[in-house]
Amino acid sequence: MKTVITYGTFDLFHEGHYNILKRAKALGDYLIVGVTTEGYDNSRGKLNIVESVMDRIEHVRDSGFADKIIIEDHMGQKIEDIQKYHVDTFVIGSDWIGKFDYLKDYCEVVYLERTKGVSSTLKRSEEFQLIRFGVVGSGRIAGRFVKEARYVSGVHVEGVYNPHIDSAKKFAEEFELDLYEDDYDKLLEKVNAVYIASPHETHYEYAKRALEKGKNVLAEKPMALKKKDAEELFALAKEKKCILMEAIKTAYAPGFIRMIGMAKSGIIGEIRDVEACFTKLTGDNTRELMDTEYGGSFTELASYTVLPIIKLLGADYKNIRFKYNNTENGLDGYTKAYFEYEDAQATSKTGLKVKSEGQLVISGTTGYIKVTAPWWKTSEFEICYEDTSQNEKVFTQFKGDGLRYEISDFVSIVNGYGNNDFKLTREESIAIAEIMERFLKDQRGK
Ligand code: CTP
Repeated sequence: MKTVITYGTFDLFHEGHYNILKRAKALGDYLIVGVTTEGYDNSRGKLNIVESVMDRIEHVRDSGFADKIIIEDHMGQKIEDIQKYHVDTFVIGSDWIGKFDYLKDYCEVVYLERTKGVSSTLKRSEEFQLIRFGVVGSGRIAGRFVKEARYVSGVHVEGVYNPHIDSAKKFAEEFELDLYEDDYDKLLEKVNAVYIASPHETHYEYAKRALEKGKNVLAEKPMALKKKDAEELFALAKEKKCILMEAIKTAYAPGFIRMIGMAKSGIIGEIRDVEACFTKLTGDNTRELMDTEYGGSFTELASYTVLPIIKLLGADYKNIRFKYNNTENGLDGYTKAYFEYEDAQATSKTGLKVKSEGQLVISGTTGYIKVTAPWWKTSEFEICYEDTSQNEKVFTQFKGDGLRYEISDFVSIVNGYGNNDFKLTREESIAIAEIMERFLKDQRGK
């Protein structure tokens, strides 16, 4: 009996998939098909898969060619499978020519010509609307966004807005964008979504104007500096049937989501303490340290540090106290925020003028989770116990600058698939805005 194996994502099952399975089956007597999991696709940078692994398996089964269907969930698995199932022939489409020659040590490798004119990518672009982004602001993070958006299918960055036309033009040239505007309404006419990366205090106004015109909004953190502003924006988004999402990249990072899930599952017992620290030494002539109204370490960095606190302990804290070291111009160069809960506590440390160990430690009644810096780009974490022989390290992926994850989730939410809005809920975003408001009142009397 000749055993053949092939692999794929098989998203939105199409003619190309049908053809390759048919031809693969014809090459032997028994066909094994490996279908990738979401996690594996995510780790190899294949974002925006529409269908769940169960649905994709179902379609492969419906084709009638597979004698056995297996799950592919990690790199290197093909070699294991080929040996385990005594595979004679490995088959894959011609888009992979040469890439799997290393399997020739284990079996015959056959590249079959791809069916022309069809692919999952094409189907996704036909079935779902292309997200045409306008970028608001042209600073560092805006540049990173444009680069990261290139990794997400279904997205095109149309242009940039900056009230200073020279800055907009320079940015458009650098990132090869066709459009630059100093008139926000004009930009809004040409896009169906905006990514807001302007100074903190302007996020609310730009988001509101975009939502009023029925545009979807991905707003950099902090999305709002007042609880009522955040509430108002979400209400407006609902009324206009638009998506509003706060871009705290950590919230959408696969490793962070996994870590939160593990912490909440009781692996370290009852959570009693969360300590999150993020410091970034910054020059005095930067926006963060010159904007005497809304600059400073807390508004700049606490969206990150407060995120795991709210995710793990909720927004129902009994009290928050802030302690800060101020710079000469009255901004907080370093802030420690103490959260008091019924049966837990938490601290957030943020600094632009103080350097510290940037780690996240979640302490529970039976152990703790340690995520070393840069934990806000979660790629690995350790679960630690009294008996250190039980310690366990978990490795995940955080690719590039990581904005691709939030962009990909934004696309799936706008297009109505993926159910990814649990990653940062409205309530959590509103709670973070309220914490920003409390801080500004406390430190600046605003
Ligand atoms: N395939 C094919 N002809 C096509 C599309 C895919 O023969 N027109 C083959 C691929 O070469 C691979 C298998 O089908 O062997 C599964 O491919 P998959 O990556 O799931 O499908 P694509 O349509 O290529 O997906 P995407 O556009 O997301 O890359």
